[in-house]
Amino acid sequence: MKSPLLGLLLIPVCTGHSNHGEGTTMINNDKKSTRRRRNLVESIRTYIPRSEVADAAAVDLDVHAIKNELGKLDDEGWTNAMAIYHQGAFSKPIATVTLIKPLQDSISSGKTVVGIAMDGSEIVGETIGNVGVNETIIRIVYDNDITETGHTHCSVGGNPSPIVDGCLQFEGNITIDDDQSFQYTYNVSESNHNDHTLLELSTHAKSRMWSCSHCPFRTFSKYYNYFGEFDYADRIIQDAFRGQEMELDNGNMDLGYYSKYGLKEFISKAISYLSIWMYTIRQLEQAVADCEKGEFLQAVHFWDEAVAMYTGSRGMNEGDNSSNNGDLMLHQADLRCQEFNTCGASSDSRTGQSYVNLQVFAHFADGQYSLLHNRCEQAAQNKQEIIRLMTIPLVQATLRYAHIIAHETYFNEKHGSQASLYALSILPLVHDCSPPDAAVLYQELKSKNTADVNFGAVQQALENTYSCLNIQCSEIGGIWDETIGDYKYDAYPCGAAAQGTAGNFLDAVLAQGTAGNFLDAVLGGAIGGLVFLTALGVWTWRRNKLLKKEDGEYSSSTSTSNYWQDDAGDGKEGGFRDEPKYVDTPKMETSQKLQDVLTHSVVGDQEEEHEDENSTNWQDEEEVDFGEESESESSSEEDNDEEFPEDEATYSGNHKRSSNSYEV
Ligand SMILES: *[C@@H]1O[C@H](CO)[C@@H](O)[C@H](O)[C@H]1NC(C)=O
Ligand SMILES: *[C@@H]1O[C@H](CO)[C@@H](O)[C@H](O)[C@H]1NC(C)=O
Ligand SMILES: *[C@@H]1O[C@H](CO)[C@@H](O)[C@H](O)[C@H]1NC(C)=O
Ligand SMILES: *[C@@H]1O[C@H](CO)[C@@H](O)[C@H](O)[C@H]1NC(C)=O
Repeated sequence: MKSPLLGLLLIPVCTGHSNHGEGTTMINNDKKSTRRRRNLVESIRTYIPRSEVADAAAVDLDVHAIKNELGKLDDEGWTNAMAIYHQGAFSKPIATVTLIKPLQDSISSGKTVVGIAMDGSEIVGETIGNVGVNETIIRIVYDNDITETGHTHCSVGGNPSPIVDGCLQFEGNITIDDDQSFQYTYNVSESNHNDHTLLELSTHAKSRMWSCSHCPFRTFSKYYNYFGEFDYADRIIQDAFRGQEMELDNGNMDLGYYSKYGLKEFISKAISYLSIWMYTIRQLEQAVADCEKGEFLQAVHFWDEAVAMYTGSRGMNEGDNSSNNGDLMLHQADLRCQEFNTCGASSDSRTGQSYVNLQVFAHFADGQYSLLHNRCEQAAQNKQEIIRLMTIPLVQATLRYAHIIAHETYFNEKHGSQASLYALSILPLVHDCSPPDAAVLYQELKSKNTADVNFGAVQQALENTYSCLNIQCSEIGGIWDETIGDYKYDAYPCGAAAQGTAGNFLDAVLAQGTAGNFLDAVLGGAIGGLVFLTALGVWTWRRNKLLKKEDGEYSSSTSTSNYWQDDAGDGKEGGFRDEPKYVDTPKMETSQKLQDVLTHSVVGDQEEEHEDENSTNWQDEEEVDFGEESESESSSEEDNDEEFPEDEATYSGNHKRSSNSYEV
């Protein structure tokens, strides 16, 4: 029997990174060739989703559009950004059309709809919801084509620059279920919406993470316990939009200290690393919960969506380097590993993929395999490991910005706001481990308009909780300084922290002979016993600390048995369970296909699976260029921001609180 790990190692060999490869070119070139291809995402980097995930992957396009609007730093940009946040733009586009004649037969949900788009091409979608006899309003979800051009072809909703090429024409005929034709009319700019919004990732948190069956989900509970509100992420984001003080139980910050220049960073990252981060974890939790319930297809779909939300549409097809693109965890992890010397399989390099992403994607693949083989316990362990790994880049980012501010002569609020945001993103986890350490982290990094940050205190508070968070010092690394080719003197990795002094010193000692002999020499020598003993003491203490971390704790987070017996949230609201909107019927529908998957290894299925997909997939031969070129502008800017700014010309931001009341 093949091991799951063997399977996942082979997947990249089988599929490569090519999204435009053989798999799609051999698709039937028959009469349907003018149809836009359906939105099957064939691979998310090395991961092969078994269900449709284009809409989940498109959340990053909303974040990206919000970032662009916020970057205008004016009220119009702010209003536009809020519209995208509230109404969506790229994820799950839906048309609501009116039929000229009332229906004579009812139409059920999920029927294939074919129509003509604004640009004259044929487009495909599905009905949402059942429509009864005599009714005239039909809702159609478009197949979201993000694979070719990186954006949706019908993006209206809250989009300040609507893209309508791929929207249904104002009037015409649609074919439903391949036989019946219906005449319809609607208004393109008024009746195209988005059924997924960034807002709802947080505002639906209670029903989806707290009071569902198998809830409350453990990670979410820590955040709820700390902030005291289910929709803490949305509240924080809304306060940031308005530049006002937060009103939660803990972690409150006065965002009035920041001008739009600082809030721009805070808002876009709050969406990514408070809201989407938690929802990604939620999808993993839901996948395992569905596995426990025996709903394996559903489980795999949630798992697939978690991978999509971790990666984002802009990260899906990238090679080894996602650090210069994207707004989600994939990007965050690859960026931080360069700064902390934690790239590569052994977490000790500054190039290539991050250790975190390599590990996470191994667990994504292994977890999917487990779900497909009804191994819920194993999938639960994959999930726990992914969650653990997903905290590492946030800890790194917190350290990074704390360090930047601590060394700033003049406070740059852009760095301050990011330090605040990243601190918020992990404070609940730190608090769950150690309230005193969380208090230190909070005091140092809460919003303020000074560079008065004690980096050592931040570092110590975080390091105190690594063992509780089940994080190794080597996974966090240290802040690397290219100019000296070593870690910054005050930002060594923990455990190795003394190496630059005592560690190397001791190595030298031991290389020269027994410690005893050397000790004699030292005590009588020029260096002086006190220095040596102090160094030895520090080194021993660090080392013990490290060993303790490596020994203990690992089992606790991977043991989920108690967790799954605890179903406390179920029935709390009278059995209330909001059916998540993210659930679409997985495309892998036929029981035959499931049977294949269940009885074969993942690798064995790959080719078969693709051939099956190809037969129902439409190749778009006349790929239309839909314009919108928004890829490059903000990324290079961000990279500059990430530079260590000791010598940077300082930005004199507007820190006056009064300047920050926005009309919203
Ligand atoms: C649909 O409308 C027709 C004409 O008004 C009516 O006779 C019929 O009962 C209606 N059917 C339903 C199911 O409402
Ligand atoms: C839609 O179908 C009707 C009747 O089947 C036809 O008269 C009409 O021209 C069609 N409209 C378009 C835009 O093709
Ligand atoms: C569609 O809606 C827009 C916005 O409300 C409006 O300006 C436009 O006139 C409408 N177009 C049609 C054809 O009704
Ligand atoms: C990844 O991209 C960034 C930004 O373009 C660059 O600085 C870095 O060197 C790249 N890393 C690798 C391994 O190519």
